[in-house]
Amino acid sequence: MVSILIHMVQSNLKQTFTGYLSPVDFESDLKTELTLMGITIVSQHGRLFLCEGEARDVVFAQDTWLEVEILAYSSITNAAELLKARAARYQHYSLNNHRRGELILEKVPRVKIKKYDFLESIPSTSLGAFALLSESEIIVSPKTTCPLPFGEIHFNEDKINPPSRAYLKLWELFTLYGYKPEAGMKTIDVGSCPGGWTWVLQSIGAHVVSVDKAPLDPKIAVLPNIEFRQESAFGLRPQHVGKLDWFFSDIICYPEKLLELVLRWRESELVDNFACTIKFQQPTDYETLFKFKEIPGSKIIHLSCNKHEVTWINLKEGLHEKLS
Ligand SMILES: C[S@@+](CC[C@H](N)C(=O)[O-])C[C@H]1O[C@@H](n2cnc3c(N)ncnc32)[C@H](O)[C@@H]1O
Repeated sequence: MVSILIHMVQSNLKQTFTGYLSPVDFESDLKTELTLMGITIVSQHGRLFLCEGEARDVVFAQDTWLEVEILAYSSITNAAELLKARAARYQHYSLNNHRRGELILEKVPRVKIKKYDFLESIPSTSLGAFALLSESEIIVSPKTTCPLPFGEIHFNEDKINPPSRAYLKLWELFTLYGYKPEAGMKTIDVGSCPGGWTWVLQSIGAHVVSVDKAPLDPKIAVLPNIEFRQESAFGLRPQHVGKLDWFFSDIICYPEKLLELVLRWRESELVDNFACTIKFQQPTDYETLFKFKEIPGSKIIHLSCNKHEVTWINLKEGLHEKLS
């Protein structure tokens, strides 16, 4: 079956193929999402789904391989030549023939996996990718959407100051994607305890209205520019908070409850930008996920540190273009 499909990829020269790489352990979520979007899956190789057509915005794709080709190669040197003719730098997604793949990678410019500091600049040059299908066939993409291998960022973590590891979500959003409030901006962080997100926002100079039913970690509560409100975020009215540059939510609730909440704040026209975690139970609530996607100006990302949750970004007009 796979070889018939591979032949299809090789022979349909005019057709475009895209590879979607799922996050670790989320192959079935990606597969369902692709199917619901009407994207034809040609074949699956581990976490990599080869699909017909141009790349689309797929939430459960940690990375997207563009302009995918399946090529025949005769030797390690020949494979390296094929790769070098197509892109400047590569990552290797290992399916099988691991040693052979690594030997090919040694012969082409490669990107090293490194740990980043918060807000450190990320390489802007595009990254190619390859995976060996067998001893004679190689999947090649000269360009992937993320400049980091496998669409993942790893940080030099701060093990002392933040009261929870949730801070890594905002570190990634700000460092890798550039979606970030400026110093002096007014933000709200709902579902904020113990205070990881509030700590990140405060650390970049934002003013934070921090809201949770539970108390904030005392070492965060004493930091300047934080106004803590111990109450339910669902009872809070936008008019009682006033104009906001950013609305952040990492609240634990059903996706449809979060949707209701953000729509209320959006309709108030008092908020410019949103960044919210949509947390799923089993099974994934695709119906609500697609409703979030349809809100104008939305982008939904599966962050490296998101497990069964995704991050919804909604920016004021023009900001997406400025950042992309
Ligand atoms: C995953 S934790 C948030 C972690 C936080 N972002 C951090 O960086 O430390 C989810 C939070 O949602 C809060 N929460 C749940 N229901 C809430 C509600 N109705 N109003 C406000 N907060 C709520 C919980 O108390 C919990 O602290």
